[in-house]
Amino acid sequence: MWVVQGLDGLILGRFTDIGAFTLINATNGVTIEDEVQIGPHCAILSASTIDNKWGPIHLKKKCCIGTHSTVMPNVTIGENSIIGAYSFVNCDIPANVIAYGIPAKVQHTIMPDKLGPGGYHGNNKGDKTGTILDDGSGERTV
Ligand SMILES: CC(C)(COP(=O)(O)OP(=O)(O)OC[C@H]1O[C@@H](n2cnc3c(N)ncnc32)[C@H](O)[C@@H]1OP(=O)(O)O)[C@@H](O)C(=O)NCCC(=O)NCCS
Repeated sequence: MWVVQGLDGLILGRFTDIGAFTLINATNGVTIEDEVQIGPHCAILSASTIDNKWGPIHLKKKCCIGTHSTVMPNVTIGENSIIGAYSFVNCDIPANVIAYGIPAKVQHTIMPDKLGPGGYHGNNKGDKTGTILDDGSGERTV
């Protein structure tokens, strides 16, 4: 279940995937091209009343927006690019890059060997170790 405000302003391509609890405010125009994925709990805002910003948003073919991200007015996200989870996107993002952060910054280019069936194939570090602080005796990995 996702919500659109200003439905007349939304142009929605084919084979898109929009996650639950995402809000699309299309009052100033939102274009979502074919095969775009938007994670759950995102806000795609062509109008932002808190800071009085407005303008069209363009999500180009096959770009992906990670969960809990906000895309601000007047932003274009380029073809194939990926916005990492929990990002705040307030400027244009070029094609074929990974960007994340608050505000979102380009981190690196997506190399062709990372693209395959179903799109980007990340590092899949299911066994990635994290570090936690112990009770003063040092560090241990978990
Ligand atoms: C951005 C993203 C695509 C990168 O995936 P990846 O290439 O496999 O990258 P990794 O997991 O190896 O992370 C690389 C580094 O960037 C950091 N990083 C990754 N995503 C980040 C994000 N959104 N914000 C801040 N840092 C991030 C990682 O912590 C890691 O840091 P390290 O080098 O210190 O270990 C992925 O992290 C992401 O955010 N995916 C979105 C998932 C999602 O929202 N899905 C919902 C739809 S199903």
